[in-house]
Amino acid sequence: MVPDLGNKYLKMWLWIVISLETITKVHGYSNGRFPESCDSMSPVHTNRNGISYEPQSTDPPFEITYDPAPHGQPITVYLKSKQSNKFTGFMLEARKMEDVVGPAVGKFIVLDSRETRLLSCHSSPDNAVSQKLSSEKRLLAVNWTSPQEENLDYTFRATFLQNVETFWEAVDLDVKARNVTKLQEPGTVLMIADSVLVAVKTELPLLITLLINGPRLHHLNKVKILSCVLCAAVEIPALVLFSFADPINVLFIALVCVAIAFNFMELFIVCLRIEPSHELKEISELIIKACSVIHCIFTTAIIFLGVLEFDNCGKEREDSWPVKVMMAYTVWTLLFVIWVYVSSIHRKTILGGSKIGSSKNRKERKKKKLSAAGVIVIAVQVIFGVGNLCFAFAVSFGIFWC
Ligand SMILES: *[C@@H]1O[C@H](CO)[C@@H](O)[C@H](O)[C@H]1NC(C)=O
Ligand SMILES: *[C@@H]1O[C@H](CO)[C@@H](O)[C@H](O)[C@H]1NC(C)=O
Repeated sequence: MVPDLGNKYLKMWLWIVISLETITKVHGYSNGRFPESCDSMSPVHTNRNGISYEPQSTDPPFEITYDPAPHGQPITVYLKSKQSNKFTGFMLEARKMEDVVGPAVGKFIVLDSRETRLLSCHSSPDNAVSQKLSSEKRLLAVNWTSPQEENLDYTFRATFLQNVETFWEAVDLDVKARNVTKLQEPGTVLMIADSVLVAVKTELPLLITLLINGPRLHHLNKVKILSCVLCAAVEIPALVLFSFADPINVLFIALVCVAIAFNFMELFIVCLRIEPSHELKEISELIIKACSVIHCIFTTAIIFLGVLEFDNCGKEREDSWPVKVMMAYTVWTLLFVIWVYVSSIHRKTILGGSKIGSSKNRKERKKKKLSAAGVIVIAVQVIFGVGNLCFAFAVSFGIFWC
């Protein structure tokens, strides 16, 4: 009996001690003074008995947003209520994105000195803020400047306190160094234009051969050379944009270089002007086709990478529409590649034996062919062309609009 009673008293004492401790801690929080929370950013620490309020595990009704600013100027960060909930307390820090549990970085500048208190964690001045008053608020703004020497990605991390028992920890907002994307976004859009050009370049020879009466090798060659030069004229500026982006994404540069290399290989073979009767003609045609197809695949890969990198349309990649459009575009490109393959196998059938026979005969045959296989081929080419344009517009829109 006696140990039981002792236990009871002990528990009671503990309760009183803990309650007092909790009250002082909560009081401390409402004053915005809790230097022991610099790392965890928790309002109340777990005590030995495990009696403390746990943070909410639900989706927080509060969020962090910010107004971007040019490098070196302060960013305005907002703590906001998403619904009707109000918060009475908060703590906000910025950390390096790659080390989100690491120390707070940068400096805060108070915009509303009645509501906001500056804190100095780990003896660095003003690297955290919390509330001064425990008044109810739905919006609070504060300025923050990044450490001068670095151009890194940051994560803002906040604790929102609705009341003593209800609080949310580790509410994060990732802020990528803004000026990074400015060069890579137009670079990606140039590559989208390039992918349309590549598709046209791949389709054009067959289309011209079908539409113009009989293949005119020299004109065809001029068109091929022109389309290769156009592609290069788009790709080289894109490469320059990707190379001057800061920080550089080497993958973009490598992929663009490969695309450019295949484009020039194609241009080189076209410029060789192999005569139709030459035994290497077939092989050279095949290499040109293969170059075009590889070129196509690489431009699509670059655009895909760009969309993944720069799209901010959804919080998660899965709910972002440009990524879905890009997936459809990739499938479309694959279908196009299959089409190019099939049409090159049946090229002879499609074109017919138009090289044989007198010109009168050829005309007749041409007309007959055009009314069958030729028309289908032209229709499919047009459908692919229109589809490509639509996807190109949709993806460019997604990159710039979000
Ligand atoms: C806060 O940041 C904004 C945006 O950079 C700036 O215009 C404003 O002057 C800053 N205010 C203070 C007090 O630093
Ligand atoms: C991007 O950041 C660099 C510093 O890393 C700066 O020199 C440059 O002016 C910034 N560019 C833009 C467009 O803000």
